[in-house]
Amino acid sequence: MAHVLVVGNATLDIVNLVETYPREDDEVRASAQFRRRGGNAANTAVALAQLGHEVAFVGTLADEPDARTILEDFAAQGVDTTHVCTVAGGKVPTSYVTLSRATGSRTIVHYRDLGEYRAADFARVDVQAAAWVHFEGRNLDELAKMLRDCRTRRPRAVLSLEAEKPRPGLEALFGLVDVVLFSRGYALHHGHARAEDLLRAVHAQHPQLTLACGWGADGAYAAAPAGELLFTPAFAPPQVVDTLGAGDVFNAGMIDALVRGTPLAEALVHAAQVAGRKCGHHGIAGLR
Ligand code: FRU
Repeated sequence: MAHVLVVGNATLDIVNLVETYPREDDEVRASAQFRRRGGNAANTAVALAQLGHEVAFVGTLADEPDARTILEDFAAQGVDTTHVCTVAGGKVPTSYVTLSRATGSRTIVHYRDLGEYRAADFARVDVQAAAWVHFEGRNLDELAKMLRDCRTRRPRAVLSLEAEKPRPGLEALFGLVDVVLFSRGYALHHGHARAEDLLRAVHAQHPQLTLACGWGADGAYAAAPAGELLFTPAFAPPQVVDTLGAGDVFNAGMIDALVRGTPLAEALVHAAQVAGRKCGHHGIAGLR
């Protein structure tokens, strides 16, 4: 078990389960609805807690009733929320998700009206026990300061960065971390039709980094500082019921394995396995 800090977003997810994805201007009935905690960093934190680590979520929440759903879930999962900053005004970031039973796809409309977590807040977080600190790639000016601060105060911790949504300037932060975890969306946005091409391009610029990129049902890739490119197929569950957050769980699987000292090739397979298991369950569940 390791002490891991996860810095980023927690959301409220309102998930409507539909038989098939509707057409624009359709009116359809949902067969089920779930209201639950989401958010990339929050999902990764919960997954790491389920995988046996001592985890703290670090981020902001709004001063409104929906924050309770999120805090209650963190408490139930054993995720420490001591470092959560409650911001007056605003709204908990909310995702309206349409989950298709036919394909398992998840279409997200996201609404956000909440102040971001600041470097000045992070400066007060005790990082001395942390073996690993994972950062969601958002709010980049503040994030650069947090990464530098974390490296200075806790040089022994491994720092990882999630590069999921393309954001101008994100690449400037690659030199401040040890591990970058990419998404398929990021690769495609940057003109890489294959994960291998993205990882080779980033490796050429930053040979010191450990890299990984999930590719959904088509598997996942990783690259070690030594340069070898690794691949694992995906591990689909008997029935795909919910892919929302699978990428966040993949990231947790990578961190879980690497923080235990597992070689990268095995870490990649492990991450694909836990992400696959997640897809057989609603929410972040069934990972072991
Ligand atoms: C899944 C997720 C959801 C959240 C959305 C935010 O990866 O974190 O839980 O609503 O993405 O972008």
